[in-house]
Amino acid sequence: MAAPTTTFRRAGRTGLDLPAVSLGLWQGFGDDRPEERQREIVLHAVERGITHLDLANNYGPPPGAAEAFVGRLLRTALRGRRHELVLTTKAGYRQWPGPYGEHGSRKYLLASLDASLERLGVDHVDVFYSHRFDPRTPLAETLGALATAVASGRARHAGISSYSATRTLEALEVARGLGLTLAVHQPSWSMLNRWVEEPTAPDGRSLLDVVGDAGMGLVAFSPLAQGLLTQKYLDGVPEGSRASRAASFDPAWITPEVRARVRGLDAVARGRGESLARTAIAWVLRDPRTTSVLVGASSVAQLDDSLGALASPPFTAEELAAIDEHAVDSGVNLWGSRSSDL
Ligand SMILES: NC(=O)c1ccc[n+]([C@@H]2O[C@H](COP(=O)([O-])OP(=O)(O)OC[C@H]3O[C@@H](n4cnc5c(N)ncnc54)[C@H](OP(=O)(O)O)[C@@H]3O)[C@@H](O)[C@H]2O)c1
Repeated sequence: MAAPTTTFRRAGRTGLDLPAVSLGLWQGFGDDRPEERQREIVLHAVERGITHLDLANNYGPPPGAAEAFVGRLLRTALRGRRHELVLTTKAGYRQWPGPYGEHGSRKYLLASLDASLERLGVDHVDVFYSHRFDPRTPLAETLGALATAVASGRARHAGISSYSATRTLEALEVARGLGLTLAVHQPSWSMLNRWVEEPTAPDGRSLLDVVGDAGMGLVAFSPLAQGLLTQKYLDGVPEGSRASRAASFDPAWITPEVRARVRGLDAVARGRGESLARTAIAWVLRDPRTTSVLVGASSVAQLDDSLGALASPPFTAEELAAIDEHAVDSGVNLWGSRSSDL
């Protein structure tokens, strides 16, 4: 398949450019999958201009395995190419046992960043994220740790992930006081998970508005709702699929109503002459505030399908109206009740 040229988008009012479609290594890049397949996917991505690889301390299994894998690539097939890549990592979820192994304390965040750098074998990441809001730690401490990461050169930029509109406004204010720029926000967003569009800030703005107005970049994750927004679950749950592993994707989410919505969205995609995955990604990319859409892939073919979104035709008003009919929240936002609603 011919490679569409990657397009880059500027992250808000920062100096950071990201490919419109980026690759995330949350699942499929741990010790439970053949490393040869992982290498094939990541090297194919880089070859196709996906310069941004998104990681976190806990991506595996076991936690840290995805970073260690990328570290091995940087010492072998990607040797000498660190400067071409944007490597991002996060801390917030459980990484090791005990009270210092998760959430948003200074002690945990900076220890975790150091461990990430060691696994990756690099002296800095491009973005270090607070992975989730921590209600038990003052924001000044969490953001102060991000400021230290940037000031010490261990991170080029700071970001936050899954913070609600209200918490984002608070974080922006605290960051301003610290002289810290929050370069990017990373929330979940898809046609079946639209919380970022809701007017939830005290002043009636949505998270998208808050992020856009603040000049932050927006990196949207799980645009395919973990694979639900493809054709794979239309007639069941295929063996080996993410839902069949029933870890982060509960197959019980695929109710007859949800399947009917996916069918409706698939019909719109067919009308556009493309796969549902492409339409789902293009739909998130159509918002000018979107800097990048973070996809996962368990094969090169899936990645190529997703990258096809870069060549998707613009949406007509009729298509957008038809999408809105079916694109309703479907209980697939794993991250909502954990931090974004706090
Ligand atoms: N900040 C956070 O808290 C957070 C949380 C979640 C994710 N993320 C980031 O976002 C990235 C992407 O998340 P995600 O993996 O959930 O994204 P996604 O793109 O919504 O789902 C990817 C999964 O869908 C399936 N798939 C992909 N393309 C397909 C296609 N063309 N046809 C059929 N199935 C297809 C694959 O699963 P199977 O083949 O295995 O079924 C693939 O692993 C993560 O890797 C991570 O970097 C961040």
